[in-house]
Amino acid sequence: MTRKIIAIVGSYRKEGIVERAVEAILEAAAERGAETETVRLIDRSIEFCTNCRTCTREEGPQRGICVHRDGMSDILDRVEAADGIVLASPVNFFGVTAVTQRFIERLLCYAYWPWGKPMPALRVKDRGLEAVLVTSSAMPAALGRVFTRSLSSLKRAAQTLGAKTAGTLFVGSAALRERQELPQAILDRARKLGHELARQRTEPEPLN
Ligand SMILES: Cc1cc2nc3c(=O)[nH]c(=O)nc-3n(C[C@H](O)[C@H](O)[C@H](O)COP(=O)(O)O)c2cc1C
Repeated sequence: MTRKIIAIVGSYRKEGIVERAVEAILEAAAERGAETETVRLIDRSIEFCTNCRTCTREEGPQRGICVHRDGMSDILDRVEAADGIVLASPVNFFGVTAVTQRFIERLLCYAYWPWGKPMPALRVKDRGLEAVLVTSSAMPAALGRVFTRSLSSLKRAAQTLGAKTAGTLFVGSAALRERQELPQAILDRARKLGHELARQRTEPEPLN
């Protein structure tokens, strides 16, 4: 079966650092036979979560239905049909970009949280989805991994979607010039991550 990989990109710059890093991952996955697609959050109509909690009220594994009729449900249908996901955002003010944060908050529909319950509970912990997380920052990666929270936000988003994180890619020193080439080490790592996402998982032996 062809593996489907979807990338959700929260960068404001088309063909910027994050988008090119994601492209390198997807190209490697496609090389190994995966079907790939990219969703640029900046091009989609996504409303802000209003905290009405309508989507969290019904119990069960299906995501709750949001009151907004916008581009979000199409994206989530595609994510649920995928085998792998690349979640990507540059670091802005130490966290993810605003478009990424708006997308992440709309993932509340993957939690059951009726009024009276103190905390949300995830509807599906493991959807069999593998996630690769990508971020970039002006500061060098070694500092960015310690002092910024974009990767942990992306990881939380992956968890909420029922995805297991298979790897991360952090592109540091990413704001030195208007257009920068990606270092070879980053391209090599992107390629490895793409191959990993495209790798066929062996079916578990059926129990007699
Ligand atoms: C509004 C804004 C805030 C930023 N905040 C940070 C930051 O807190 N730390 C950092 O290292 N880089 C910061 N940056 C630099 C971006 O992370 C960098 O330009 C980006 O990773 C490049 O990716 P892109 O080409 O996909 O946009 C910021 C950039 C902008 C525009």
